[in-house]
Amino acid sequence: MALRNLTVAGPPPLAAVADHSTRREVSSARGAPVVRIEGLVKRLRRGVIAVDGVDLEIRKGEVWGLAGPNGSGKTLTLKMLLGLVRPTAGKVFLFGEPVRPGARVLGRVGALVDGPGFVPHLSGLDNLRLAWRLTRRPADEAGLEPALDYAALGEALHRPYSTYSHGMRYRLGFAQALLGRPELLILDEPVTGLDPLHVRQLRAALAELVARGTTVLMSSHVLGDVQETCTHVAVMQQGRVVASGRVPDLVARFGAGSSLEEAYVELVAGSGAAAGDPGRSAK
Ligand SMILES: Nc1ncnc2c1ncn2[C@@H]1O[C@H](COP(=O)(O)OP(=O)(O)OP(=O)(O)O)[C@@H](O)[C@H]1O
Ligand SMILES: [Mg+2]
Repeated sequence: MALRNLTVAGPPPLAAVADHSTRREVSSARGAPVVRIEGLVKRLRRGVIAVDGVDLEIRKGEVWGLAGPNGSGKTLTLKMLLGLVRPTAGKVFLFGEPVRPGARVLGRVGALVDGPGFVPHLSGLDNLRLAWRLTRRPADEAGLEPALDYAALGEALHRPYSTYSHGMRYRLGFAQALLGRPELLILDEPVTGLDPLHVRQLRAALAELVARGTTVLMSSHVLGDVQETCTHVAVMQQGRVVASGRVPDLVARFGAGSSLEEAYVELVAGSGAAAGDPGRSAK
């Protein structure tokens, strides 16, 4: 497919020519990348390949957006990153350590993927306390107060979880992801279903967390938000990363300098295969 040849994920990636600050280059040179994905593949039943050789490297302090049509493999990629789904092939490293289900390194990661699993009859607060107890980590490492501040649930925190609206459920899940002050946050469509005020709050919360050194990877269909919030973006299509790099570079290269949405349309719709399931079979 012609556009595949335009992918900036291959050498030299835009990320490699990106105008990183000297400070970041120095700090990232010291340690392993926060996320490193090599040749990640997920083959589903009936031979359908949902994730098809994804490579990605994320450095400390970067904020990555993962964009792509429905069914392009974003959530599956995030789940494999978290050890929730076993890859068919490829490697995933977090902070330089290989990821397996229950790997110790996952304690440095906060995630909200596929909705949180909370107990309906417990209050939001009790759910958070329970979630932390299940990690078996010391209570003083939980950082419950700041997580509650970010959730901004007010009195609702004391109501049963079953009475929460969609947005309230999401915000409690966000608070849970923040427990333990994670160094890496992985969020699947964080703004979907949130009202505009809470979208703003979430953006502000992310900005604050990033200013404190948190690295973020989030999938999103809200490209204006990705353009505003993220330093980098990877665009997936049919299980592959068709472009990745710094947001301004992608906008300049594919979006005629105007917007990430333009770049996305050029990359995704322009290739003649917009939305839908991959539906491709293993050879
Ligand atoms: N547990 C599963 N069993 C079978 N197929 C699955 C499973 N999870 C995902 N898939 C399939 O894998 C493909 C990629 O799904 P994924 O959820 O990663 O897409 P996505 O990019 O997150 O889409 P969306 O934007 O709609 O959230 C889809 O074709 C989906 O139907
Ligand atoms: Mg998804």
